[in-house]
Amino acid sequence: MGIPKTVKVVEVGPRDGLQNETCQLSTETKIEFIDHLSLTGLKVIEVTSFVSAKKIPQLVDAEKVLKGIRRKAGVRYPVLVPNLLGFERALHAGATEIAIFGSASETFSQKNINCSIDESLRRFEEVTREAKKQNMPVRAYISCAFSCPYEGKTPEKAVLSMAEKMLALGCYEVSIGDTIGVATPLQAKQLFSSLMQVVPREKLAAHFHDTYGQALANVFSVLQEGIAVIDASVSGLGGCPYAQGATGNVATEDVLYLLQGLGIETGVDLNAILKVGKFICEKLKKQTRSKVAQAVGTS
Ligand code: HMG
Ligand code: MG
Repeated sequence: MGIPKTVKVVEVGPRDGLQNETCQLSTETKIEFIDHLSLTGLKVIEVTSFVSAKKIPQLVDAEKVLKGIRRKAGVRYPVLVPNLLGFERALHAGATEIAIFGSASETFSQKNINCSIDESLRRFEEVTREAKKQNMPVRAYISCAFSCPYEGKTPEKAVLSMAEKMLALGCYEVSIGDTIGVATPLQAKQLFSSLMQVVPREKLAAHFHDTYGQALANVFSVLQEGIAVIDASVSGLGGCPYAQGATGNVATEDVLYLLQGLGIETGVDLNAILKVGKFICEKLKKQTRSKVAQAVGTS
């Protein structure tokens, strides 16, 4: 299988990016961010998560954000849902697509979503059943596909088994997450080629974090395996609060530049993405400066 001719870039900045920022952006800024992204040619923009506000305070305004965005025809706007409560919240806020997120590591599952892998699958079964009733497509994530911040290297068979189980629930795609950004290109190639022995290539997506600067090389590696869905985050925002020290996702700008150089079609305008990256970085910088000023002023 050669390099694909077209690639779908899944923009996860508004969710994976903002969930890990220490400062809280206003709801209006988040909406503006997503509305700008909608005009870049992206076909999938992950908007937010319907999780516990105590766990992820950055996304406390999920309902308002999802209701506030201007949806562009032809663009999909998935939201993360961990359980039935999250599904109901998302449905009432007008979600038309969801993503469930499990883990290949038992300890990460406990830390991230407060339940075992088996219990998470039971919850996902309920969620996907309800989603089906609403004709809602469901995407899936598998975290710690290469390594876990608590358990170390993840056995390949744990990832393969989780991928099969999540697809058996009816998910249309499973995104393989290097949550802590430690994979290297040969490992990425190895895991994806093993995955392709048990699940169809077109149902696989790659989700690389960039802690050790390997994310773009990993993307290139899996492209050569024929993987045609790449998750990325504008300006490389991102991380997971339950994977301390892990940095952001591979930057959308870098992925687009690579794909352009390889002659791969995405339909996304790199210059427009650069402008959105500048916009969100300025907002984050401004917010951080005012937080620092407040702290100094009150100390
Ligand atoms: P839980 O099992 O109920 O238990 O929640 P909990 O102790 O973790 O949370 C308890 C509180 O959350 C209770 O409220 C629940 O009612 C409430 P309290 O009684 O304390 O007032 N609760 C909810 N509130 C809002 N929405 C809900 C919901 N469910 C329960 N849906 C839960 C389990 C998963 C909700 C919680 O542990 C949680 O929110 N965890 C955060 C998970 C998260 O968002 N992690 C980051 C995203 S995953 C990621 O970044 C990886 C990824 O990018 C791929 C990769 O990089 O590998 C996808
Ligand atoms: Mg992630």
